[in-house]
Amino acid sequence: MIDSKAPVLGIESSCDETGVALLRLDPSAPGRGLLAHALYSQVSLHAEYGGVVPELASRDHVRKLLPLVRQTLADAGVGVRELGAVAYTAGPGLVGALLVGAAAARALAWALEVPAIEVHHMEGHLLAPLLEEPALGTKPLAPPFVALLVSGGHSLLVGVERVGSYVILGDTLDDAAGEAFDKTAKLMGLPYPGGPALAKIAESGSPDAFRFSRPMTDRPGLDMSFSGLKTQVLLAWRGSDQSAQTRADIARGFEEAIVETLAIKCRRALAQTGYQRLVVSGGVGANQRLRAQLAEAGQREGFSTYFPRLQFCTDNGAMIALAGSIRLAAGQHTGPEIRVRPRWNLEALPEVA
Ligand code: KG4
Ligand code: ZN
Repeated sequence: MIDSKAPVLGIESSCDETGVALLRLDPSAPGRGLLAHALYSQVSLHAEYGGVVPELASRDHVRKLLPLVRQTLADAGVGVRELGAVAYTAGPGLVGALLVGAAAARALAWALEVPAIEVHHMEGHLLAPLLEEPALGTKPLAPPFVALLVSGGHSLLVGVERVGSYVILGDTLDDAAGEAFDKTAKLMGLPYPGGPALAKIAESGSPDAFRFSRPMTDRPGLDMSFSGLKTQVLLAWRGSDQSAQTRADIARGFEEAIVETLAIKCRRALAQTGYQRLVVSGGVGANQRLRAQLAEAGQREGFSTYFPRLQFCTDNGAMIALAGSIRLAAGQHTGPEIRVRPRWNLEALPEVA
């Protein structure tokens, strides 16, 4: 029996964050009806390896997932038998990590005799700004819009015609934007994950000391490439005095280059589609310089910008509970098999009626 008024549990375990949330879908309620959410980040577990170790990630999800489910239910004051459905990230992501979330979600749904919903991780990211609504003083977010989804694994420009109807307008040809931040930070000796660490030291760097190229902005198109930038930084770093100030200056130059490149591509995507709304989400969407530059461009050029709060830019359970609830409301849920999709094309998703 499907009770569309009952809260939906969302589970995220595609990479190195275990996220759980509970949401009772209500477009007029704060956070679209978000009741509670809990997150455990494995960052310190992987830090000594300089990147995510898949097997360690899976094992840690096993340890943390059920305690987080219990905590989320307790925080919301909701009993497990009151759940209406269980949504989980089915992909894309690390196969072992995905399987932990999928197995837990399926088992719970099966035991409670409620539907399970497979959520595409990137759809979760692109719908995440809806968790901020209704926000006073801004135009509500509704399709059509362009979404810039920039994380450790993806750099996508997506045209969102309707919820569920997605066109990939641009992709990276090599490193994702977050990966470029992480690798560049690593080569200058900064800790993992490099994005926030690099952004922090860039604050004390000069914007004029190092100028790196804005890759692929000198030709038409919306695809991106960031691996060359990393090499430019490597050469600049090796040829420098490697002082703390130089490191900050290089970090600033790198951040300026990436942010400006992304901003150019976003404005191009808006011009190409004729859409007037821009969503920025995914871990790199937490970058303050990117947020400020795009918000400013929007004010100047007449498009509206939508960002999730910082904690919902990076991986989290709330965006999965939300995307799952929207799919459930459209009557979309799946059979009993435990299935994950480590590679999953966003454009192949069914439309939400
Ligand atoms: O969305 P996310 O949590 O996980 C993936 O799905 O990949 O994104 C993580 C990525 C990492 O590469 C991290 O370095 C980057 O987002 N990141 C940032 C910032 N915060 C996180 N990059 C730049 N500036 C930030 N403030
Ligand atoms: Zn993500």
